[in-house]
Amino acid sequence: MKEIQSQILVLHGPNLNMLGKREPNIYGLKTLDDINASLNSEAERLSVTVSIEQSNHEGILVDLIQGAFDVFNGLLINPGAYTHTSVAIRDAIAAVAIPTVEVHLSNIHQREPFRHHSYIAPVAIGQISGFGAESYRLGLQALVNHLRSHAYP
Ligand code: DQA
Repeated sequence: MKEIQSQILVLHGPNLNMLGKREPNIYGLKTLDDINASLNSEAERLSVTVSIEQSNHEGILVDLIQGAFDVFNGLLINPGAYTHTSVAIRDAIAAVAIPTVEVHLSNIHQREPFRHHSYIAPVAIGQISGFGAESYRLGLQALVNHLRSHAYP
């Protein structure tokens, strides 16, 4: 099968810069740098390019998603707590219409009821939740498989 070069934007939302120190019983001991290193090596294995950003600010995440229009062909996002609150991030993803995979380290459906609802899920291809740092690697694989299988119908 012929392959297109995929350019993937990876976005980490609020408080994910504190991974490793933040509630390690829930989120594990891996730091964001560890996760990014594993994403970079998985990207190389899959022959795709990843550009990785983290922000604690909803508006900055919206700007980054808007800026992805016509630049990136896939979005891998852990919106953190904005998953459960942000119509603005959902609308930005719908606006740019870039295939998106939502990831979470923890299993949000097993936690407090306020975490069970995701504003992002309806505009995402799918969601990977509950595999710790591995959720990101699985999410990248799922996104790349989706892009490759939809590139040449
Ligand atoms: C999270 C789950 C969210 O509910 C929480 O607010 C986070 C992290 C996760 O990766 O498990 O910040 O997105």
